[in-house]
Amino acid sequence: MNIAIGSDHAGFRLKEELRRHLESAGHTVIDLGTASEESVDYPDYGLAVGRAVASGQASRGVAVCGTGIGIAIAANKVPGVRAGTPGDLYATRLMREHNDANVIAFGARLTAAPLAIAMLDLFLETGFAGGRHARRVDKLDASLSSSKNGVSNR
Ligand code: RB5
Repeated sequence: MNIAIGSDHAGFRLKEELRRHLESAGHTVIDLGTASEESVDYPDYGLAVGRAVASGQASRGVAVCGTGIGIAIAANKVPGVRAGTPGDLYATRLMREHNDANVIAFGARLTAAPLAIAMLDLFLETGFAGGRHARRVDKLDASLSSSKNGVSNR
């Protein structure tokens, strides 16, 4: 699989670990930086990962900053990107099954490397469940005016 990866300075070390893991698993990794722990701005890297996924250059994206929040917000500014910052393996599975997430974001200050690697593997191997979730994911890309405001727990 072609996978785009990017981080700011706070996520650099974890990004490097994740990149090495992906490469050793046989994936083609598009490393969009950053290349050191020198201070940079996370929006630049979140947008770069998002654009790589939205353009089809990469099938999935991995984004890392200090919390995983800012870089996910940046990636989600790109139309077609569905980025999330899961806190555990359960949320990681559901972000694929329910949300068809195509970018996973990590907080290097919050998540240790072994858990991040397990979450990344699960993110890559879990499929989208479709069905009622497909209708909802379609609405993410549709005009807000066409979306109803009904609430459902199903
Ligand atoms: C950088 O200090 C930090 O703000 C950034 O990595 C990230 O956590 C933002 O959401």
